[in-house]
Amino acid sequence: MSRFRSEVEKASRERCSRIVLALDILEPSKDRLYEKALWVMREASENVCCFKIGIPTVLKLGLSDVSRLVEEAHDMGLPVIMDCKLGDVGHVNRMMAILYFEAGFDALTVNTLVGFEGGLDSVIEESKKRDRGILPLVYMSHKGAEETFGQTVLSKDGTARKMYEVLAERVKLWDIDGIVVGATRPEVIRQVRDIVEPDTPIYSPGVIFQGGSLRDALEAGSTYLIVGRAIYLSENPRGESARLKKILST
Ligand code: XMP
Repeated sequence: MSRFRSEVEKASRERCSRIVLALDILEPSKDRLYEKALWVMREASENVCCFKIGIPTVLKLGLSDVSRLVEEAHDMGLPVIMDCKLGDVGHVNRMMAILYFEAGFDALTVNTLVGFEGGLDSVIEESKKRDRGILPLVYMSHKGAEETFGQTVLSKDGTARKMYEVLAERVKLWDIDGIVVGATRPEVIRQVRDIVEPDTPIYSPGVIFQGGSLRDALEAGSTYLIVGRAIYLSENPRGESARLKKILST
Protein backbone atom coordinates (compact mmCIF):
# COMPACT_ATOMS: atom_id res chain seq x y z
CA MET A 1 0.00 0.00 0.00
CA SER A 2 1.41 3.44 -0.91
CA ARG A 3 2.25 6.01 1.73
CA PHE A 4 -0.51 8.20 0.27
CA ARG A 5 -3.14 5.54 0.75
CA SER A 6 -2.11 4.75 4.32
CA GLU A 7 -1.98 8.47 5.22
CA VAL A 8 -5.54 9.03 3.99
CA GLU A 9 -6.68 5.97 5.94
CA LYS A 10 -4.92 7.19 9.09
CA ALA A 11 -6.35 10.71 8.84
CA SER A 12 -9.80 9.26 8.14
CA ARG A 13 -9.60 7.02 11.21
CA GLU A 14 -8.26 9.75 13.50
CA ARG A 15 -10.82 12.35 12.41
CA CYS A 16 -13.72 9.90 11.84
CA SER A 17 -14.13 11.52 8.43
CA ARG A 18 -14.50 10.32 4.84
CA ILE A 19 -14.47 13.82 3.40
CA VAL A 20 -11.86 15.07 0.93
CA LEU A 21 -11.97 18.85 0.70
CA ALA A 22 -11.65 20.23 -2.86
CA LEU A 23 -10.09 23.71 -2.92
CA ASP A 24 -11.11 25.50 -6.12
CA ILE A 25 -11.37 28.90 -4.52
CA LEU A 26 -11.78 31.98 -6.69
CA GLU A 27 -10.31 35.25 -5.42
CA PRO A 28 -9.21 38.36 -7.36
CA SER A 29 -5.61 38.41 -6.17
CA LYS A 30 -2.98 35.78 -5.48
CA ASP A 31 -2.55 36.94 -1.88
CA ARG A 32 -6.28 36.81 -1.16
CA LEU A 33 -6.50 33.35 -2.73
CA TYR A 34 -3.59 32.03 -0.68
CA GLU A 35 -5.00 33.45 2.56
CA LYS A 36 -8.54 32.21 1.90
CA ALA A 37 -7.34 28.71 0.93
CA LEU A 38 -5.20 28.47 4.06
CA TRP A 39 -8.03 29.74 6.25
CA VAL A 40 -10.51 27.19 4.80
CA MET A 41 -7.93 24.40 5.20
CA ARG A 42 -7.32 25.30 8.86
CA GLU A 43 -11.02 25.67 9.63
CA ALA A 44 -11.90 22.29 8.08
CA SER A 45 -8.77 20.35 8.99
CA GLU A 46 -10.30 18.46 11.91
CA ASN A 47 -13.21 17.25 9.78
CA VAL A 48 -11.57 16.05 6.57
CA CYS A 49 -9.11 13.26 5.73
CA CYS A 50 -7.39 14.83 2.71
CA PHE A 51 -7.27 17.99 0.59
CA LYS A 52 -7.56 18.22 -3.20
CA ILE A 53 -6.16 21.08 -5.29
CA GLY A 54 -7.09 21.67 -8.92
CA ILE A 55 -5.47 23.29 -11.94
CA PRO A 56 -7.16 26.75 -11.47
CA THR A 57 -5.38 27.15 -8.13
CA VAL A 58 -2.03 26.14 -9.64
CA LEU A 59 -2.51 28.58 -12.55
CA LYS A 60 -3.42 31.44 -10.25
CA LEU A 61 -0.90 30.90 -7.46
CA GLY A 62 1.97 29.24 -9.33
CA LEU A 63 3.53 25.98 -8.30
CA SER A 64 5.81 27.42 -5.63
CA ASP A 65 2.99 29.04 -3.62
CA VAL A 66 0.89 25.90 -4.10
CA SER A 67 3.82 23.96 -2.72
CA ARG A 68 3.68 26.13 0.43
CA LEU A 69 -0.02 25.24 0.82
CA VAL A 70 0.84 21.55 0.44
CA GLU A 71 3.45 21.94 3.19
CA GLU A 72 0.85 23.58 5.45
CA ALA A 73 -1.49 20.63 4.79
CA HIS A 74 1.26 18.19 5.73
CA ASP A 75 1.84 20.14 8.98
CA MET A 76 -1.88 19.59 9.68
CA GLY A 77 -1.31 15.85 9.15
CA LEU A 78 -3.21 15.75 5.86
CA PRO A 79 -2.16 14.54 2.38
CA VAL A 80 -2.99 16.48 -0.78
CA ILE A 81 -4.26 15.20 -4.15
CA MET A 82 -3.45 17.15 -7.33
CA ASP A 83 -6.56 16.86 -9.50
CA CYS A 84 -4.68 17.27 -12.80
CA LYS A 85 -6.47 14.44 -14.67
CA LEU A 86 -3.22 13.80 -16.57
CA GLY A 87 -4.03 12.95 -20.16
CA ASP A 88 -1.10 13.51 -22.51
CA VAL A 89 1.46 11.15 -24.02
CA GLY A 90 3.91 9.40 -21.71
CA HIS A 91 6.98 11.65 -21.82
CA VAL A 92 4.89 14.81 -21.24
CA ASN A 93 2.84 13.11 -18.52
CA ARG A 94 6.12 12.16 -16.86
CA MET A 95 7.32 15.80 -16.85
CA MET A 96 4.06 17.00 -15.28
CA ALA A 97 4.01 14.17 -12.73
CA ILE A 98 7.57 14.97 -11.62
CA LEU A 99 6.73 18.69 -11.24
CA TYR A 100 3.66 17.92 -9.14
CA PHE A 101 5.49 15.38 -7.00
CA GLU A 102 8.41 17.79 -6.50
CA ALA A 103 5.87 20.38 -5.33
CA GLY A 104 4.94 17.90 -2.61
CA PHE A 105 1.66 16.43 -3.86
CA ASP A 106 0.85 12.98 -2.49
CA ALA A 107 -1.33 11.72 -5.36
CA LEU A 108 -2.42 12.64 -8.88
CA THR A 109 -5.65 11.99 -10.76
CA VAL A 110 -5.16 10.55 -14.27
CA ASN A 111 -7.41 10.18 -17.30
CA THR A 112 -7.82 6.45 -17.81
CA LEU A 113 -8.88 6.88 -21.46
CA VAL A 114 -5.23 7.68 -22.31
CA GLY A 115 -4.32 4.04 -21.71
CA PHE A 116 -1.27 2.48 -20.11
CA GLU A 117 1.52 1.85 -22.62
CA GLY A 118 3.16 5.13 -23.68
CA GLY A 119 0.49 7.04 -21.76
CA LEU A 120 0.10 6.49 -18.04
CA ASP A 121 2.85 3.90 -17.52
CA SER A 122 5.40 6.70 -16.94
CA VAL A 123 3.19 8.38 -14.34
CA ILE A 124 2.69 5.15 -12.43
CA GLU A 125 6.46 4.54 -12.54
CA GLU A 126 7.20 8.03 -11.12
CA SER A 127 4.59 7.62 -8.39
CA LYS A 128 5.92 4.20 -7.32
CA LYS A 129 9.50 5.57 -7.09
CA ARG A 130 8.25 8.12 -4.55
CA ASP A 131 5.59 6.04 -2.78
CA ARG A 132 2.88 8.45 -3.94
CA GLY A 133 -0.62 7.70 -5.24
CA ILE A 134 -2.42 7.46 -8.57
CA LEU A 135 -6.20 7.83 -8.89
CA PRO A 136 -7.61 6.97 -12.35
CA LEU A 137 -11.00 8.33 -13.43
CA VAL A 138 -13.53 5.58 -14.06
CA TYR A 139 -16.68 7.70 -14.39
CA MET A 140 -16.93 11.47 -14.04
CA SER A 141 -19.71 13.22 -12.20
CA HIS A 142 -21.12 15.55 -14.87
CA LYS A 143 -23.98 14.81 -17.29
CA GLY A 144 -21.82 14.59 -20.43
CA ALA A 145 -19.78 11.74 -18.93
CA GLU A 146 -22.51 9.47 -20.33
CA GLU A 147 -21.17 10.23 -23.83
CA THR A 148 -17.77 8.71 -23.08
CA PHE A 149 -17.44 6.85 -19.78
CA GLY A 150 -21.06 5.67 -20.10
CA GLN A 151 -21.07 4.57 -23.74
CA THR A 152 -21.51 0.97 -24.79
CA VAL A 153 -18.36 -0.50 -26.34
CA LEU A 154 -17.24 -3.84 -27.69
CA SER A 155 -14.71 -5.39 -25.33
CA LYS A 156 -11.81 -7.53 -26.61
CA ASP A 157 -13.87 -10.74 -26.47
CA GLY A 158 -16.56 -9.15 -28.65
CA THR A 159 -19.17 -8.68 -25.95
CA ALA A 160 -20.97 -5.35 -25.46
CA ARG A 161 -19.92 -3.65 -22.23
CA LYS A 162 -20.10 -0.23 -20.67
CA MET A 163 -16.89 1.76 -21.05
CA TYR A 164 -16.67 2.30 -17.27
CA GLU A 165 -16.81 -1.48 -16.69
CA VAL A 166 -13.94 -2.01 -19.11
CA LEU A 167 -11.95 0.82 -17.47
CA ALA A 168 -12.58 -0.53 -13.95
CA GLU A 169 -11.26 -3.93 -15.06
CA ARG A 170 -8.26 -2.36 -16.77
CA VAL A 171 -7.10 -0.28 -13.80
CA LYS A 172 -7.06 -3.40 -11.63
CA LEU A 173 -3.87 -4.32 -13.52
CA TRP A 174 -2.14 -1.00 -12.76
CA ASP A 175 -1.31 -1.08 -9.02
CA ILE A 176 -3.33 2.04 -8.28
CA ASP A 177 -4.34 3.64 -4.98
CA GLY A 178 -8.01 4.26 -5.58
CA ILE A 179 -10.34 5.29 -8.39
CA VAL A 180 -12.66 8.22 -9.06
CA VAL A 181 -16.36 7.54 -9.73
CA GLY A 182 -18.86 10.41 -9.60
CA ALA A 183 -21.33 10.46 -6.71
CA THR A 184 -24.08 11.50 -9.11
CA ARG A 185 -24.57 7.89 -10.29
CA PRO A 186 -24.85 5.51 -7.31
CA GLU A 187 -25.80 2.63 -9.63
CA VAL A 188 -22.45 2.98 -11.39
CA ILE A 189 -20.62 3.07 -8.05
CA ARG A 190 -22.39 -0.18 -7.10
CA GLN A 191 -21.35 -1.93 -10.33
CA VAL A 192 -17.77 -0.67 -10.19
CA ARG A 193 -17.47 -1.68 -6.53
CA ASP A 194 -18.19 -5.26 -7.62
CA ILE A 195 -15.48 -5.14 -10.29
CA VAL A 196 -12.52 -3.60 -8.42
CA GLU A 197 -10.85 -5.20 -5.38
CA PRO A 198 -13.08 -4.94 -2.30
CA ASP A 199 -10.51 -2.74 -0.54
CA THR A 200 -9.86 -0.36 -3.47
CA PRO A 201 -10.85 3.13 -2.26
CA ILE A 202 -13.51 4.83 -4.40
CA TYR A 203 -13.31 8.65 -4.36
CA SER A 204 -16.60 10.30 -5.34
CA PRO A 205 -16.99 13.97 -6.31
CA GLY A 206 -20.28 15.56 -7.32
CA VAL A 207 -22.20 15.79 -4.04
CA ILE A 208 -24.52 18.63 -3.01
CA PHE A 209 -23.81 21.34 -5.66
CA GLN A 210 -23.82 18.77 -8.50
CA GLY A 211 -26.83 16.96 -7.00
CA GLY A 212 -25.22 13.78 -5.63
CA SER A 213 -26.11 12.52 -2.16
CA LEU A 214 -23.38 11.73 0.38
CA ARG A 215 -25.34 8.86 1.90
CA ASP A 216 -26.45 7.31 -1.39
CA ALA A 217 -22.85 7.28 -2.66
CA LEU A 218 -21.57 5.81 0.61
CA GLU A 219 -24.24 3.11 0.63
CA ALA A 220 -23.44 2.28 -3.01
CA GLY A 221 -19.78 1.65 -2.12
CA SER A 222 -17.85 4.94 -2.16
CA THR A 223 -15.07 5.18 0.41
CA TYR A 224 -14.35 8.93 0.35
CA LEU A 225 -16.59 11.81 -0.72
CA ILE A 226 -15.00 14.82 -2.40
CA VAL A 227 -16.69 18.08 -1.38
CA GLY A 228 -15.77 21.53 -2.65
CA ARG A 229 -18.21 24.44 -2.84
CA ALA A 230 -20.51 23.20 -0.09
CA ILE A 231 -17.61 23.74 2.33
CA TYR A 232 -15.42 26.52 0.93
CA LEU A 233 -18.32 28.78 -0.07
CA SER A 234 -19.90 28.37 3.35
CA GLU A 235 -19.47 31.20 5.85
CA ASN A 236 -18.57 28.56 8.39
CA PRO A 237 -16.36 25.88 6.78
CA ARG A 238 -15.60 24.38 10.19
CA GLY A 239 -19.28 23.92 11.06
CA GLU A 240 -20.27 22.78 7.56
CA SER A 241 -17.47 20.22 7.30
CA ALA A 242 -18.40 18.91 10.77
CA ARG A 243 -22.05 18.61 9.70
CA LEU A 244 -21.20 16.73 6.49
CA LYS A 245 -18.75 14.43 8.29
CA LYS A 246 -21.55 13.53 10.73
CA ILE A 247 -23.97 12.68 7.91
CA LEU A 248 -21.48 10.05 6.75
CA SER A 249 -20.77 8.62 10.19
CA THR A 250 -24.37 8.05 11.35
P1 XMP B 1 -17.87 20.64 -5.92
O1 XMP B 1 -17.73 22.09 -5.67
O2 XMP B 1 -18.86 20.31 -6.99
O3 XMP B 1 -16.43 20.20 -6.42
O4 XMP B 1 -18.13 19.85 -4.65
C1 XMP B 1 -16.13 18.92 -6.92
C2 XMP B 1 -14.67 18.79 -7.13
O5 XMP B 1 -14.40 17.54 -7.69
C3 XMP B 1 -13.81 17.71 -8.97
N1 XMP B 1 -14.56 16.83 -9.82
C4 XMP B 1 -14.05 15.75 -10.34
N2 XMP B 1 -12.83 15.27 -10.26
N3 XMP B 1 -13.59 13.41 -11.52
C5 XMP B 1 -12.59 14.10 -10.87
O6 XMP B 1 -11.45 13.62 -10.82
C6 XMP B 1 -14.83 13.87 -11.64
O7 XMP B 1 -15.70 13.25 -12.20
C7 XMP B 1 -15.06 15.11 -11.02
N4 XMP B 1 -16.17 15.82 -10.91
C8 XMP B 1 -15.82 16.89 -10.15
C9 XMP B 1 -13.94 19.12 -9.39
O8 XMP B 1 -12.81 19.51 -10.14
C10 XMP B 1 -14.04 19.81 -8.06
O9 XMP B 1 -12.75 20.06 -7.56
